[in-house]
Amino acid sequence: MKPKKLAILGSTGSIGRSTFDVVRQHPGQFEVVALSAHANVELICSQYSEFHPKVLCLTDDNSTCIVAERLKAEPVEIISGETGLLEVVGSDEVETVVNAIVGAAGLKVSLETVKLGKMLALANKESLVTGGPLFGPLLKKSGAKILPIDSEHSAIWQSLACGRPGEVRKIILTASGGPFRDYPAEKFSEITLEMALAHPTWKMGPKITIDSATLANKGLEVIEAVALFSVPAEKVEVVVHPQSIIHSMVEFVDSSIIGQLSTPDMRLPITYALFWPERVESGFGRLDLTEISQLTFEKPDFDKFPLLKLAYQVAETGGTAPAVFNAANEVAVEAFLDKTVRFVAIADIVDEAIDKLNIVSAPTLEDILAADRLARETARGTIKELTTC
Ligand SMILES: NC(=O)c1ccc[n+]([C@@H]2O[C@H](COP(=O)([O-])OP(=O)(O)OC[C@H]3O[C@@H](n4cnc5c(N)ncnc54)[C@H](OP(=O)(O)O)[C@@H]3O)[C@@H](O)[C@H]2O)c1
Repeated sequence: MKPKKLAILGSTGSIGRSTFDVVRQHPGQFEVVALSAHANVELICSQYSEFHPKVLCLTDDNSTCIVAERLKAEPVEIISGETGLLEVVGSDEVETVVNAIVGAAGLKVSLETVKLGKMLALANKESLVTGGPLFGPLLKKSGAKILPIDSEHSAIWQSLACGRPGEVRKIILTASGGPFRDYPAEKFSEITLEMALAHPTWKMGPKITIDSATLANKGLEVIEAVALFSVPAEKVEVVVHPQSIIHSMVEFVDSSIIGQLSTPDMRLPITYALFWPERVESGFGRLDLTEISQLTFEKPDFDKFPLLKLAYQVAETGGTAPAVFNAANEVAVEAFLDKTVRFVAIADIVDEAIDKLNIVSAPTLEDILAADRLARETARGTIKELTTC
């Protein structure tokens, strides 16, 4: 079999690095044609030395110049910015795009990949959260396929294979509950950055780690599931499962519940996506059921985690509401990571943006990008107010 030609966008991040583990595990099965990062010059240069892609794209201009200088003697094209990312996706050399970019910055490349009828191995949940309504018509027209990498959506995808769409009663999205599941609500104002970055079961990039602590990540995943599996939000139930062994489930009309279990290791859903429709020896994370003493389940606490509640409202509203939720959350999390605002302020900042902005119900891409821009401005305004009073 000819090797699959991959572009790995966001190659220097947590998912990008796990994707390389999968590629290394299967020599001769993949050709890495292009990589992208924002500004991590050291890591993308070292990835170049190992995989020799034909193209590197950096979205930070200064970093593009540094990489171009460092690799000037090498047979590699160095390109830049959002247009560079779109060029990578459009290249005839690229068959499958792994989108592991963080944030709404990943939306346009996902849309372009789908428009061109290519395989989209999608970790960037923000693509479906913000651009949900735009994907359906493009998928229909181009015959492209979205292969979810998010572990919950991979589990749902695998479980859905056991029935027909009309036989689904509900989707059960599991959540670890994050580091503050048992932390008293009255002490939430004392949560520090270090506490929020200490996720109990998953090792991930900083943005998604904070989102897991506020449960905004689970909210984004509810919206993602609505867009990906064409179900109403009320059919998606979040269940807290602290062991992170069952990655999600589907309940069918005969009351059978089908789920997917494995150790919490992102290399498993990445392997499933990259080899789909086949299953291959993964070499990672085998689960010894006898070593797990218990699998527990509980309802999420919507009062302690208001962003999860808000995400359901946003998913039901649809249109540009999820884009506003996502953009305001990105700005709020960045401010928390910079230690500009407190943990509890993240939800307030997002709430304020949702309250203030008008929602377009059947948006175009331009409407979504405008909503994203306005939400960021509004969130920055709220942060300014919070930090000057
Ligand atoms: N990590 C996980 O276990 C996990 C699980 C499920 C889903 N996801 C989703 O996967 C995506 C990536 O998560 P991650 O944890 O891998 O993030 P991460 O570790 O922060 O990596 C993000 C990647 O995106 C690049 N990047 C940052 N800003 C960018 C911009 N403006 N334009 C283009 N590229 C940019 C980064 O480049 P630099 O390194 O140069 O900054 C890096 O390569 C997110 O959507 C996340 O929700 C992650």
